Amino acid sequence: MASLASHKCLLFSLVILGIWVSVSTASRDLSEASMVDRHEKWMAQHGRVYKDAAEKLHRFKIFKANVEYIEAFNSAGVHKYKLGANQFADLTNEEFRASYNGFRPSKSNAAKAADRSSFKYENFTAAPASMDWRTKGAVTPIKNQGECGCCWAFSAVASTEGIHKLSTGKLISLSEQELVDCDTSGEDQGCNGGLMDNAFEFIMKNKGLTTEAKYPYTATDGTCSSKKASTSAATITGYEDVPANNEASLLKAVANQPVSVAIDAGDSDFQLYSSGVFTGECGTELDHGVTAVGYGKASDGTKYWLVKNSWGTSWGEKGYIRMERDVDAEEGLCGIAMQASYPTA
Ligand SMILES: *[C@@H]1O[C@H](CO)[C@@H](O)[C@H](O)[C@H]1NC(C)=O
Repeated sequence: MASLASHKCLLFSLVILGIWVSVSTASRDLSEASMVDRHEKWMAQHGRVYKDAAEKLHRFKIFKANVEYIEAFNSAGVHKYKLGANQFADLTNEEFRASYNGFRPSKSNAAKAADRSSFKYENFTAAPASMDWRTKGAVTPIKNQGECGCCWAFSAVASTEGIHKLSTGKLISLSEQELVDCDTSGEDQGCNGGLMDNAFEFIMKNKGLTTEAKYPYTATDGTCSSKKASTSAATITGYEDVPANNEASLLKAVANQPVSVAIDAGDSDFQLYSSGVFTGECGTELDHGVTAVGYGKASDGTKYWLVKNSWGTSWGEKGYIRMERDVDAEEGLCGIAMQASYPTA
């Protein structure tokens, strides 16, 4: 009897298992079908076209893995920020790192920075509780560097646009492409990376930059056009480095003007960031140049830096990210306080 009982029990289990398998297979088919559908919709939304069916299948698998990661992350409900299937959702993190950043920290620059110690906001104490340079008309609309590692140009241009507005009252969108094409005699290498401080050096020597309209962005390395670059629309008189690894100093600077900052933007959570206050994971291997255009405190009390990125408006909060401020590490979150600098005018 005992063996029969256990036999029955086994049969029963098999029936249950059979039902469970067929149900879960059906729901897996369903979710696979809906994932295919989501990928199609996402492709249409982002204008993505693949060269053949094999490429499409390859991209679908990456998209699916990313979406599953995003959904598990968001539904865990333990994070202060959310992830989303933005334009980078069909890229592996390795591909993303390889194509979309472009900040190149260099030893010679670090040495140069050490000699240049003046910090005009050293004794500034009147920083308001929050700042948003967008509301003061000192920030141009979000731009998109595309598949060209010239974040350094976008970062330097954004802080230059900011100081130009603050010193002249005029907000003018300036040319990143002029930096990509013409700032080539030093260490800056167009789509292969560069440094904001070197861009400031170029802008000073070049006596300014022309407008975005006169020298439009192409997202590729081009030949310097002296014709397009012939009229300077805005210039700077110098630039200074914010004392490194000190968020209090960074605050003094950002309270006064938009500031170029270098960050480690290589992690997949940064790749897929969608909204909220980003708290990491991230390291301090600086690989991306962006612009701190304000700071504040979220409703739950989390302090943040308001950061303008150059990945279009479909990434993050309409192209911006709020990054946690005043963290325990002196480098700041993702190294934001390590190599900050701003132009003077
Ligand atoms: C800040 O104050 C100190 C002490 O008065 C002074 O020596 C220093 O030059 C000031 N720094 C700036 C940038 O004005």
